[in-house]
Amino acid sequence: MRISAYRKAHFNAAHRLHLPDLTDAENHDLFGACSNPLFHGHNYDLTVKVTGEVDPRTGFLIDLKILKDYIRDHVEKVFDHKNINLEVEEFTDNKLNPTAENICYVIWQRLRKVLDQKYELTVRLYETPRNFVEYPA
Ligand code: NI
Repeated sequence: MRISAYRKAHFNAAHRLHLPDLTDAENHDLFGACSNPLFHGHNYDLTVKVTGEVDPRTGFLIDLKILKDYIRDHVEKVFDHKNINLEVEEFTDNKLNPTAENICYVIWQRLRKVLDQKYELTVRLYETPRNFVEYPA
């Protein structure tokens, strides 16, 4: 039997959207309030979806304690109460603009590295209650 399990998580973090080759005014035209040079915060919500075959002996798809620990160690500890531009390796030195799209993809990459390859993985990231992205599409 194929099924999906979900785990929700949450972190608060600061970011600034900007492209270093643009002026502050041009960045504001492109990214609006999210380009504030002094940063601002979001309450990010996360839904992690794991899909695969139920183990017929245990009746489990995945021990949700394991998924919870992966999210704590590889997402919450990395992002919670951090300045994403300055403190999260994938984004430092303007390597990557911390849009919801890029943050979602980085979270997916981090979880994909530790999650057993037998599972499919989907990450949905809410930047606000009404704005969210999902990878893979
Ligand atoms: Ni923002």
